[in-house]
Amino acid sequence: MSYLTEPLDSRHNRNNFSCGKDLLDNYFLRQAKQDVKRKLSACFVLIDRETDRISGYYTLSSSSISNDLIPDSFKEKLPKSYLSIPTILLGRLAIDRDFQGKGIGKILLIDSLKRCFDTSDSIGAFAVIVDPLDKEAERFYKKYGFIKLPDSGKMFLPMKTIKELFE
Ligand SMILES: CC(C)(COP(=O)(O)OP(=O)(O)OC[C@H]1O[C@@H](n2cnc3c(N)ncnc32)[C@H](O)[C@@H]1OP(=O)(O)O)[C@@H](O)C(=O)NCCC(=O)NCCS
Repeated sequence: MSYLTEPLDSRHNRNNFSCGKDLLDNYFLRQAKQDVKRKLSACFVLIDRETDRISGYYTLSSSSISNDLIPDSFKEKLPKSYLSIPTILLGRLAIDRDFQGKGIGKILLIDSLKRCFDTSDSIGAFAVIVDPLDKEAERFYKKYGFIKLPDSGKMFLPMKTIKELFE
């Protein structure tokens, strides 16, 4: 499977993008390109071929979580001496309002998980982490199997589970 998204670059017009959540819109408009330039995150966009508009975007960064946060059922085989566990952060995922409710969020999520899975062959990553903005976002990720981490707003999906999607 090849990717449906492409890396954000200066050819993309971000000006009219609006997913309805100011935090995600402002980030995309004002900060995403700087973050990419500084290697703080990678940003990928989906282009609607009919209108040439950006229908959605997501960001990925390397990250880690404390071993203590990982639910017991997933950490049986993790060495106890590893205090933090390498992960990939799917920091933001947003679909423009004009394109919501058409299955594009699902497509973008799968595309991001595929990138994470491919990367985990080169750089170890035990799971993909998301940090949902609100309950609505939490419900979306829960639908796709993300598990809430204790004492944290974050959710995670083990790479082992993601592997089953692509193999
Ligand atoms: C949440 C969001 C990414 C969903 O994208 P979308 O393109 O509208 O969703 P899709 O059309 O791909 O929906 C896929 C499935 O998820 C479900 N879904 C969509 N939003 C959902 C939500 N908030 N809660 C639960 N399920 C949801 C849909 O019903 C659909 O289910 P189905 O396949 O059984 O019919 C999008 O609405 C969005 O960008 N919201 C604003 C930003 C945001 O909250 N981002 C997420 C966290 S950073």
